[in-house]
Amino acid sequence: MQLRHCHNFQDFRELARRRLPGPIFNYIDGAADDETTYRRNTAAFESCDLVPDVLRGVSEVDTSVTVMGQKLALPFYCSPTALQRLFHHQGERAVAAAAAGHGTMFGVSSLGTVSLEELRRLHATPQIYQFYFHKDRGLNRDMLQRAKAAGVNVMMLTVDSITGGNRERDLRTGFSIPFRLTLAGMLQFALKPAWGLNYVTHERFKLPQLDAHVDMGRGTMSIGRYFSEMLDPAMNWGDVEEMVRLWDGPFCLKGVMSVGDARRAADIGCNGIVLSNHGGRQLDGSRSAFDQLSEVVDAVGDRIDVMMDGGVQRGSHVLKALSLGAKAVGIGRGYLYPLAAAGQAGVERALGLLRDEVVRGMKLMGCKSVAELSRENLRFRV
Ligand code: FNR
Ligand code: LAC
Repeated sequence: MQLRHCHNFQDFRELARRRLPGPIFNYIDGAADDETTYRRNTAAFESCDLVPDVLRGVSEVDTSVTVMGQKLALPFYCSPTALQRLFHHQGERAVAAAAAGHGTMFGVSSLGTVSLEELRRLHATPQIYQFYFHKDRGLNRDMLQRAKAAGVNVMMLTVDSITGGNRERDLRTGFSIPFRLTLAGMLQFALKPAWGLNYVTHERFKLPQLDAHVDMGRGTMSIGRYFSEMLDPAMNWGDVEEMVRLWDGPFCLKGVMSVGDARRAADIGCNGIVLSNHGGRQLDGSRSAFDQLSEVVDAVGDRIDVMMDGGVQRGSHVLKALSLGAKAVGIGRGYLYPLAAAGQAGVERALGLLRDEVVRGMKLMGCKSVAELSRENLRFRV
Protein backbone atom coordinates (compact mmCIF):
# COMPACT_ATOMS: atom_id res chain seq x y z
CA MET A 1 0.00 0.00 0.00
CA GLN A 2 1.32 3.44 -0.97
CA LEU A 3 0.30 7.05 -0.59
CA ARG A 4 -1.33 7.14 -4.01
CA HIS A 5 -3.61 4.33 -2.87
CA CYS A 6 -4.94 6.45 0.00
CA HIS A 7 -8.30 7.94 -0.90
CA ASN A 8 -9.86 8.50 2.49
CA PHE A 9 -9.36 8.62 6.26
CA GLN A 10 -9.45 4.83 6.65
CA ASP A 11 -6.82 4.33 3.94
CA PHE A 12 -4.42 6.74 5.64
CA ARG A 13 -5.13 5.10 8.98
CA GLU A 14 -4.25 1.71 7.56
CA LEU A 15 -1.01 2.98 6.01
CA ALA A 16 -0.07 4.65 9.30
CA ARG A 17 -0.80 1.41 11.15
CA ARG A 18 1.58 -0.45 8.86
CA ARG A 19 4.38 2.10 9.24
CA LEU A 20 4.26 2.93 12.94
CA PRO A 21 5.43 0.87 15.90
CA GLY A 22 2.33 -0.40 17.72
CA PRO A 23 2.66 1.79 20.84
CA ILE A 24 2.84 4.98 18.75
CA PHE A 25 -0.03 4.00 16.48
CA ASN A 26 -2.15 3.18 19.52
CA TYR A 27 -1.27 6.49 21.17
CA ILE A 28 -2.78 8.31 18.17
CA ASP A 29 -5.58 5.86 17.52
CA GLY A 30 -6.65 5.34 21.11
CA ALA A 31 -8.97 7.22 23.42
CA ALA A 32 -10.22 7.07 27.03
CA ASP A 33 -11.92 4.21 28.88
CA ASP A 34 -14.27 2.29 26.57
CA GLU A 35 -13.72 4.79 23.71
CA THR A 36 -17.50 5.38 23.53
CA THR A 37 -17.15 9.10 22.98
CA TYR A 38 -14.47 8.51 20.37
CA ARG A 39 -16.82 6.29 18.36
CA ARG A 40 -19.78 8.63 18.84
CA ASN A 41 -17.79 11.60 17.50
CA THR A 42 -17.92 10.23 13.96
CA ALA A 43 -21.25 8.42 14.33
CA ALA A 44 -22.91 11.70 15.38
CA PHE A 45 -22.62 13.02 11.82
CA GLU A 46 -24.84 10.17 10.68
CA SER A 47 -27.74 11.31 12.82
CA CYS A 48 -28.68 13.91 10.21
CA ASP A 49 -28.88 14.14 6.44
CA LEU A 50 -28.13 16.86 3.93
CA VAL A 51 -31.00 18.15 1.80
CA PRO A 52 -29.51 19.69 -1.35
CA ASP A 53 -30.86 22.50 -3.51
CA VAL A 54 -30.37 22.14 -7.25
CA LEU A 55 -30.07 24.35 -10.36
CA ARG A 56 -28.17 27.07 -8.52
CA GLY A 57 -25.41 27.82 -11.04
CA VAL A 58 -22.46 26.62 -9.00
CA SER A 59 -19.54 26.65 -11.42
CA GLU A 60 -17.43 28.52 -8.84
CA VAL A 61 -17.56 27.91 -5.12
CA ASP A 62 -15.84 29.91 -2.39
CA THR A 63 -14.69 27.74 0.53
CA SER A 64 -13.08 30.56 2.50
CA VAL A 65 -14.09 31.54 6.03
CA THR A 66 -13.02 34.15 8.56
CA VAL A 67 -12.60 32.87 12.07
CA MET A 68 -11.28 34.84 15.04
CA GLY A 69 -10.18 37.50 12.60
CA GLN A 70 -8.14 35.03 10.51
CA LYS A 71 -8.96 34.53 6.86
CA LEU A 72 -8.73 30.85 5.86
CA ALA A 73 -9.04 29.49 2.33
CA LEU A 74 -10.70 26.39 3.77
CA PRO A 75 -13.36 25.92 6.45
CA PHE A 76 -11.18 23.41 8.33
CA TYR A 77 -7.82 23.72 10.10
CA CYS A 78 -5.20 21.46 11.67
CA SER A 79 -5.99 21.27 15.37
CA PRO A 80 -2.93 21.30 17.65
CA THR A 81 -1.55 17.88 18.54
CA ALA A 82 1.44 16.73 20.56
CA LEU A 83 4.67 14.88 19.68
CA GLN A 84 4.43 15.03 15.88
CA ARG A 85 8.11 14.18 15.21
CA LEU A 86 7.45 10.86 16.87
CA PHE A 87 4.91 10.05 14.17
CA HIS A 88 7.15 11.10 11.27
CA HIS A 89 10.56 12.75 11.40
CA GLN A 90 9.24 15.84 9.57
CA GLY A 91 6.64 16.32 12.32
CA GLU A 92 5.19 19.81 12.79
CA ARG A 93 7.26 21.09 9.86
CA ALA A 94 5.28 18.88 7.50
CA VAL A 95 1.90 19.81 8.96
CA ALA A 96 2.63 23.54 8.96
CA ALA A 97 3.91 23.43 5.37
CA ALA A 98 0.86 21.49 4.17
CA ALA A 99 -1.54 23.82 6.02
CA ALA A 100 0.22 26.85 4.56
CA GLY A 101 0.09 25.33 1.08
CA HIS A 102 -3.67 24.99 1.42
CA GLY A 103 -4.08 28.45 2.95
CA THR A 104 -5.38 27.25 6.28
CA MET A 105 -4.46 27.56 9.95
CA PHE A 106 -2.41 25.11 12.00
CA GLY A 107 -1.94 24.66 15.71
CA VAL A 108 1.29 24.17 17.63
CA SER A 109 0.95 22.20 20.84
CA SER A 110 2.62 22.98 24.16
CA LEU A 111 3.91 19.43 23.68
CA GLY A 112 5.08 20.16 20.14
CA THR A 113 8.43 18.82 18.94
CA VAL A 114 9.38 21.84 16.79
CA SER A 115 9.57 25.33 18.26
CA LEU A 116 6.70 27.72 17.73
CA GLU A 117 9.24 30.39 16.66
CA GLU A 118 10.71 28.26 13.88
CA LEU A 119 7.28 27.45 12.48
CA ARG A 120 6.28 31.10 12.63
CA ARG A 121 9.37 32.06 10.64
CA LEU A 122 8.77 29.42 7.97
CA HIS A 123 5.14 30.16 7.12
CA ALA A 124 2.83 33.15 6.87
CA THR A 125 -0.43 31.24 7.32
CA PRO A 126 -2.35 31.83 10.62
CA GLN A 127 -0.79 29.97 13.54
CA ILE A 128 -2.47 28.89 16.75
CA TYR A 129 -0.53 28.31 19.93
CA GLN A 130 -2.15 25.67 22.11
CA PHE A 131 -1.63 26.43 25.75
CA TYR A 132 -1.62 24.03 28.67
CA PHE A 133 -2.01 25.82 31.99
CA HIS A 134 0.78 24.66 34.30
CA LYS A 135 1.02 24.80 38.07
CA ASP A 136 4.17 26.86 37.50
CA ARG A 137 2.76 30.36 36.93
CA GLY A 138 6.17 31.62 35.82
CA LEU A 139 6.16 29.08 33.02
CA ASN A 140 2.66 30.20 32.01
CA ARG A 141 3.69 33.85 31.80
CA ASP A 142 6.85 32.98 29.86
CA MET A 143 4.92 30.90 27.34
CA LEU A 144 2.42 33.66 26.74
CA GLN A 145 5.21 36.19 26.17
CA ARG A 146 7.14 33.83 23.91
CA ALA A 147 4.10 33.22 21.73
CA LYS A 148 3.38 36.94 21.57
CA ALA A 149 6.95 37.79 20.63
CA ALA A 150 6.97 35.10 17.94
CA GLY A 151 3.86 36.58 16.28
CA VAL A 152 1.41 33.75 16.97
CA ASN A 153 -2.05 34.76 15.69
CA VAL A 154 -4.41 32.90 17.99
CA MET A 155 -4.01 31.78 21.59
CA MET A 156 -5.95 28.59 22.30
CA LEU A 157 -6.21 27.41 25.90
CA THR A 158 -7.17 23.76 26.27
CA VAL A 159 -9.51 23.38 29.23
CA ASP A 160 -10.50 19.71 29.05
CA SER A 161 -7.18 18.22 30.17
CA ILE A 162 -6.55 19.35 33.73
CA THR A 163 -5.94 15.70 34.52
CA GLY A 164 -4.97 12.77 32.31
CA GLY A 165 -7.66 10.73 30.56
CA ASN A 166 -7.62 6.98 31.19
CA ARG A 167 -6.01 5.71 28.00
CA GLU A 168 -5.86 2.01 28.51
CA ARG A 169 -4.05 1.28 25.25
CA ASP A 170 -1.15 3.43 26.48
CA LEU A 171 -1.18 1.65 29.83
CA ARG A 172 -0.87 -1.66 28.04
CA THR A 173 1.99 -0.61 25.73
CA GLY A 174 3.70 1.55 28.35
CA PHE A 175 3.78 4.50 25.93
CA SER A 176 5.56 7.49 27.43
CA ILE A 177 7.84 10.33 26.35
CA PRO A 178 10.57 9.90 25.26
CA PHE A 179 10.18 6.14 25.67
CA ARG A 180 9.53 3.66 28.34
CA LEU A 181 7.98 0.50 27.09
CA THR A 182 6.90 -2.87 28.18
CA LEU A 183 8.73 -5.81 26.66
CA ALA A 184 5.87 -6.36 24.25
CA GLY A 185 6.03 -2.68 23.34
CA MET A 186 9.73 -2.95 22.53
CA LEU A 187 9.07 -5.88 20.28
CA GLN A 188 6.66 -3.66 18.36
CA PHE A 189 9.49 -1.21 17.69
CA ALA A 190 11.76 -4.02 16.50
CA LEU A 191 9.05 -4.94 13.99
CA LYS A 192 9.20 -1.50 12.33
CA PRO A 193 12.89 -0.99 11.50
CA ALA A 194 12.22 1.67 8.84
CA TRP A 195 10.52 3.89 11.41
CA GLY A 196 13.36 3.23 13.86
CA LEU A 197 16.04 4.14 11.35
CA ASN A 198 14.33 7.42 10.48
CA TYR A 199 13.88 8.24 14.12
CA VAL A 200 17.50 7.71 15.13
CA THR A 201 19.02 9.37 12.06
CA HIS A 202 17.14 12.63 12.55
CA GLU A 203 17.34 15.41 15.09
CA ARG A 204 17.04 14.27 18.71
CA PHE A 205 13.56 14.23 20.23
CA LYS A 206 12.77 17.32 22.26
CA LEU A 207 9.90 19.48 23.46
CA PRO A 208 11.11 23.00 22.65
CA GLN A 209 8.05 24.72 24.07
CA LEU A 210 8.79 23.26 27.50
CA ASP A 211 12.49 22.39 27.50
CA ALA A 212 13.50 25.33 29.62
CA HIS A 213 11.03 24.35 32.33
CA VAL A 214 10.58 20.60 32.29
CA ASP A 215 13.40 18.15 32.73
CA MET A 216 12.55 15.25 30.50
CA GLY A 217 16.20 14.32 30.22
CA ARG A 218 16.65 12.09 33.21
CA GLY A 219 13.54 10.04 33.07
CA THR A 220 10.52 9.40 31.00
CA MET A 221 7.07 10.72 31.57
CA SER A 222 3.73 9.36 30.53
CA ILE A 223 1.21 11.78 29.07
CA GLY A 224 -1.04 10.94 32.01
CA ARG A 225 1.67 11.91 34.49
CA TYR A 226 2.45 15.14 32.62
CA PHE A 227 -1.21 16.15 32.84
CA SER A 228 -1.63 15.10 36.44
CA GLU A 229 1.65 16.41 37.85
CA MET A 230 2.38 19.53 35.83
CA LEU A 231 -0.99 20.96 34.84
CA ASP A 232 -3.03 22.91 37.33
CA PRO A 233 -6.46 21.48 38.14
CA ALA A 234 -7.12 24.62 40.19
CA MET A 235 -7.30 26.68 36.97
CA ASN A 236 -10.50 28.73 37.02
CA TRP A 237 -12.37 31.50 35.19
CA GLY A 238 -10.40 34.18 37.01
CA ASP A 239 -7.12 32.75 35.72
CA VAL A 240 -8.46 32.67 32.18
CA GLU A 241 -9.77 36.23 32.42
CA GLU A 242 -6.26 37.33 33.37
CA MET A 243 -4.76 35.38 30.46
CA VAL A 244 -7.20 36.95 28.01
CA ARG A 245 -6.16 40.38 29.26
CA LEU A 246 -2.43 39.62 29.12
CA TRP A 247 -2.65 38.09 25.65
CA ASP A 248 -4.58 41.05 24.26
CA GLY A 249 -5.39 39.37 20.93
CA PRO A 250 -7.53 36.58 19.47
CA PHE A 251 -8.12 34.12 22.32
CA CYS A 252 -10.16 30.95 22.38
CA LEU A 253 -10.98 28.10 24.71
CA LYS A 254 -10.72 24.53 23.43
CA GLY A 255 -12.85 21.95 25.16
CA VAL A 256 -15.85 24.03 26.25
CA MET A 257 -19.05 21.99 25.95
CA SER A 258 -21.87 23.52 28.01
CA VAL A 259 -24.00 26.54 27.12
CA GLY A 260 -23.24 28.09 30.50
CA ASP A 261 -19.48 27.88 29.92
CA ALA A 262 -19.85 29.20 26.38
CA ARG A 263 -21.67 32.27 27.76
CA ARG A 264 -19.02 32.75 30.38
CA ALA A 265 -16.26 32.54 27.76
CA ALA A 266 -17.99 35.30 25.82
CA ASP A 267 -18.45 37.37 28.99
CA ILE A 268 -14.73 37.35 29.83
CA GLY A 269 -13.72 38.46 26.35
CA CYS A 270 -12.83 35.27 24.50
CA ASN A 271 -13.21 35.60 20.72
CA GLY A 272 -13.93 31.95 20.12
CA ILE A 273 -14.56 28.54 21.60
CA VAL A 274 -13.90 25.09 20.22
CA LEU A 275 -16.49 22.52 21.25
CA SER A 276 -14.34 19.43 21.71
CA ASN A 277 -13.93 16.31 23.79
CA HIS A 278 -10.25 16.05 22.81
CA GLY A 279 -10.95 13.33 20.26
CA GLY A 280 -12.54 11.16 22.99
CA ARG A 281 -9.20 11.04 24.82
CA GLN A 282 -10.27 12.68 28.09
CA LEU A 283 -13.79 12.26 29.51
CA ASP A 284 -15.32 9.13 28.05
CA GLY A 285 -19.11 9.34 27.98
CA SER A 286 -18.88 13.03 27.14
CA ARG A 287 -21.20 14.28 24.40
CA SER A 288 -19.89 14.74 20.90
CA ALA A 289 -19.19 18.31 19.82
CA PHE A 290 -21.44 17.89 16.79
CA ASP A 291 -24.40 16.81 18.95
CA GLN A 292 -23.83 19.82 21.20
CA LEU A 293 -23.23 22.35 18.45
CA SER A 294 -26.65 23.82 17.72
CA GLU A 295 -27.57 24.71 21.30
CA VAL A 296 -24.25 26.48 21.81
CA VAL A 297 -24.48 28.33 18.48
CA ASP A 298 -28.01 29.45 19.41
CA ALA A 299 -26.79 30.76 22.77
CA VAL A 300 -23.57 32.58 21.82
CA GLY A 301 -23.13 32.39 18.04
CA ASP A 302 -23.86 36.11 17.66
CA ARG A 303 -21.18 37.05 20.21
CA ILE A 304 -18.22 34.72 19.55
CA ASP A 305 -16.97 32.31 16.89
CA VAL A 306 -18.03 28.76 17.65
CA MET A 307 -15.82 26.01 16.23
CA MET A 308 -15.86 22.29 16.79
CA ASP A 309 -13.62 19.25 16.42
CA GLY A 310 -13.86 15.49 16.82
CA GLY A 311 -14.59 12.66 14.44
CA VAL A 312 -14.36 14.63 11.20
CA GLN A 313 -13.40 12.23 8.40
CA ARG A 314 -15.31 13.52 5.38
CA GLY A 315 -16.14 16.74 3.57
CA SER A 316 -19.81 16.03 4.30
CA HIS A 317 -19.01 16.09 8.04
CA VAL A 318 -17.50 19.55 7.60
CA LEU A 319 -20.58 20.69 5.64
CA LYS A 320 -22.94 19.43 8.34
CA ALA A 321 -21.04 21.26 11.09
CA LEU A 322 -20.96 24.48 9.04
CA SER A 323 -24.70 24.12 8.34
CA LEU A 324 -25.37 24.07 12.09
CA GLY A 325 -23.38 27.27 12.52
CA ALA A 326 -19.77 26.28 13.21
CA LYS A 327 -17.38 28.92 11.83
CA ALA A 328 -14.65 26.33 11.13
CA VAL A 329 -13.90 22.72 11.94
CA GLY A 330 -10.74 21.23 13.48
CA ILE A 331 -9.06 18.07 12.24
CA GLY A 332 -6.85 15.85 14.43
CA ARG A 333 -6.31 12.24 13.40
CA GLY A 334 -7.42 13.25 9.90
CA TYR A 335 -3.95 14.75 9.34
CA LEU A 336 -1.99 12.69 11.88
CA TYR A 337 -2.42 9.37 10.09
CA PRO A 338 -1.38 10.96 6.77
CA LEU A 339 1.64 12.48 8.54
CA ALA A 340 2.64 9.09 9.88
CA ALA A 341 1.92 7.47 6.53
CA ALA A 342 3.95 9.80 4.31
CA GLY A 343 5.12 13.02 6.01
CA GLN A 344 4.38 16.31 4.26
CA ALA A 345 3.20 14.64 1.05
CA GLY A 346 0.70 12.65 3.11
CA VAL A 347 -0.73 15.69 4.89
CA GLU A 348 -0.90 17.65 1.64
CA ARG A 349 -2.79 14.83 -0.01
CA ALA A 350 -5.20 14.41 2.92
CA LEU A 351 -6.00 18.14 3.13
CA GLY A 352 -6.41 18.24 -0.67
CA LEU A 353 -8.82 15.30 -0.65
CA LEU A 354 -10.86 16.89 2.14
CA ARG A 355 -10.90 20.20 0.25
CA ASP A 356 -12.10 18.40 -2.90
CA GLU A 357 -14.86 16.72 -0.91
CA VAL A 358 -15.95 20.07 0.53
CA VAL A 359 -15.96 21.72 -2.92
CA ARG A 360 -17.83 18.83 -4.53
CA GLY A 361 -20.28 18.71 -1.62
CA MET A 362 -20.98 22.45 -1.82
CA LYS A 363 -21.67 22.16 -5.55
CA LEU A 364 -23.99 19.22 -5.02
CA MET A 365 -25.69 21.14 -2.20
CA GLY A 366 -26.19 24.15 -4.47
CA CYS A 367 -24.06 26.46 -2.29
CA LYS A 368 -21.60 28.95 -3.74
CA SER A 369 -20.22 30.08 -0.40
CA VAL A 370 -19.96 28.74 3.13
CA ALA A 371 -22.44 31.39 4.28
CA GLU A 372 -25.12 29.78 2.12
CA LEU A 373 -24.98 26.57 4.15
CA SER A 374 -27.75 26.67 6.73
CA ARG A 375 -29.99 24.50 8.86
CA GLU A 376 -32.52 24.64 6.03
CA ASN A 377 -30.29 22.08 4.32
CA LEU A 378 -30.15 19.68 7.23
CA ARG A 379 -32.71 17.23 8.65
CA PHE A 380 -32.24 15.20 11.81
CA ARG A 381 -33.61 11.69 11.90
CA VAL A 382 -36.22 11.03 14.53
C1 FNR B 1 -4.52 15.46 20.37
N1 FNR B 1 -5.22 16.59 20.78
C2 FNR B 1 -4.55 17.60 21.45
N2 FNR B 1 -5.22 18.72 21.85
C3 FNR B 1 -4.58 19.71 22.49
O1 FNR B 1 -5.21 20.70 22.84
N3 FNR B 1 -3.23 19.63 22.72
C4 FNR B 1 -2.49 18.55 22.36
O2 FNR B 1 -1.29 18.49 22.58
C5 FNR B 1 -3.16 17.47 21.72
N4 FNR B 1 -2.49 16.35 21.35
C6 FNR B 1 -3.13 15.34 20.66
C7 FNR B 1 -2.42 14.22 20.26
C8 FNR B 1 -3.05 13.23 19.52
C9 FNR B 1 -2.28 12.02 19.08
C10 FNR B 1 -4.44 13.35 19.20
C11 FNR B 1 -5.15 12.29 18.38
C12 FNR B 1 -5.15 14.45 19.63
C13 FNR B 1 -6.65 16.76 20.44
C14 FNR B 1 -6.83 17.41 19.07
O3 FNR B 1 -6.41 18.74 19.04
C15 FNR B 1 -8.31 17.39 18.63
O4 FNR B 1 -9.11 17.98 19.62
C16 FNR B 1 -8.82 15.98 18.33
O5 FNR B 1 -7.81 15.19 17.74
C17 FNR B 1 -10.02 16.03 17.41
O6 FNR B 1 -10.53 14.76 17.18
P1 FNR B 1 -10.18 13.90 15.87
O7 FNR B 1 -10.22 14.81 14.66
O8 FNR B 1 -8.83 13.31 16.09
O9 FNR B 1 -11.26 12.86 15.86
C1 LAC C 1 -3.10 14.02 24.07
C2 LAC C 1 -2.50 15.27 24.53
C3 LAC C 1 -1.11 15.45 24.64
O1 LAC C 1 -4.30 14.03 23.80
O2 LAC C 1 -3.28 16.39 24.40
O3 LAC C 1 -2.39 12.99 24.03
